[in-house]
Amino acid sequence: MNIEPKAPADIAAAIINPVSYAEWDGLLDKFDVLRRDMPVARIENGDLHDPFWLVTGYDDVMRMSKDNATFLNNPRGVVFGARQGEAMIKEITGGSPHLVNSLVALDAPIHPQYRRLTQEWFMPKNLRQLEDEIGALAKTTVDRLVDAGPEADFVPLVSAPYPLHVVMQILGVPEEDEQRMLFLTQQMFGGQDEDLNKTGMANMTAEQITQLVVGAVADFEAYFARLAKEKRGNPTADVASIIANAKVDGEYLNDRDMAGYYIIVASAGHDTTSASTAGAMMALAQDPEQFARLKADRSLLPGIVEEAIRWTTPVQHFMRTAAEDVEIGNVQVKKGDWLMMSYISANHDERIFDNPRKFDAARSPNRHLAFGAGAHQCLGLHMARLEMRILFNELLDRIETIELAGEPKRAKSSFVGGLKTLPLRYTLST
Ligand code: HEM
Repeated sequence: MNIEPKAPADIAAAIINPVSYAEWDGLLDKFDVLRRDMPVARIENGDLHDPFWLVTGYDDVMRMSKDNATFLNNPRGVVFGARQGEAMIKEITGGSPHLVNSLVALDAPIHPQYRRLTQEWFMPKNLRQLEDEIGALAKTTVDRLVDAGPEADFVPLVSAPYPLHVVMQILGVPEEDEQRMLFLTQQMFGGQDEDLNKTGMANMTAEQITQLVVGAVADFEAYFARLAKEKRGNPTADVASIIANAKVDGEYLNDRDMAGYYIIVASAGHDTTSASTAGAMMALAQDPEQFARLKADRSLLPGIVEEAIRWTTPVQHFMRTAAEDVEIGNVQVKKGDWLMMSYISANHDERIFDNPRKFDAARSPNRHLAFGAGAHQCLGLHMARLEMRILFNELLDRIETIELAGEPKRAKSSFVGGLKTLPLRYTLST
């Protein structure tokens, strides 16, 4: 047994550096090396970050995702960050590594109790009722693209605002508050890319950031407490009403838990879907024949959506803490050790996916891990697929041809990542 396989210094540095996630192919090369030589690798990189185990193989990531008793979402954080960041969060929360008390911060037995509250709402049967509403949002979004032609950046015009509108609609947040919600989310989660995070955090001291984050959390709680009060008096069909009226052990959720629920839905639902949408559009712009085929045969659309989600893998990792000593990938991990599941790497495992870097719309089966697996598997996965299908149907109806009009650029982010610009040139269908 390999006692302590340590990743080479250049690879360890790349894995923790948000910049390498913007340089996609170079990062994929590194994951290829790790899967081949060291599928569970120790990542150590100076004093700023705690060491952790990086798990890169599909089978190992699947096993960890499904074994929620051995690989916990506590007591360490579920998103990788610098030591100082974790210390700051603990100071704010009074000891918890999670800034908000959301589904991803919970383990059994509480997690299933909370998850059950909205599980039904997120199933396809219920989501079907939203198709017209989402269709209307898709239409106004594509109107904007049509008006802006023949050249435009797809990300700020289409792929970023559309999922945000959808998620705010299902949360019952009025359109005039959307930008505020977006800003608060950025303040809380401190996006790593300076072009995307407009909060000015990059130039602040740790104390200033702490103050900002405390303020954002309080603001969110107050906002959602008001919304919940409204939805208790006047329940509607949205998920906000379900959360506001939900009871655990006979009691309504308290303001902090309720805000946590709203925040996870609000934050998990937009950047992710946006990244897959932009990625699909880039792949189609690079392959005009595929675009034409899809226009003619919409039965290909679900396959394209699924492949886009695998190919982009917007949630790039989640962390777990070992509940006990356990062997994984021939490595002995100790109770309390921190592990990173790399969804990017798992979704590029050549033992599972032929030619994994290729965008292959006909890929079948396509059992990717972009939504995770097990107890925490993405609650919004049917919603993400539905949203993308509706938007692409609208795009395919109205756009005749697309091509790249410049170089697409990826965000510098080691957690949720994807394209931040996608310049397109397009013609309209007559
Ligand atoms: C392409 C789009 C999306 C991707 C790739 C994605 C990916 C993920 C992943 C990887 C997880 C963690 C899974 C795990 O730990 O095993 C997750 C959890 C979650 N996602 Fe998504 N997601 C997407 C869209 C959405 C949408 C649209 C919503 C809601 C509107 C949503 C809501 C959630 C929630 C609430 C959780 C936490 C579930 C739990 O811990 O029980 N996601 N997502």
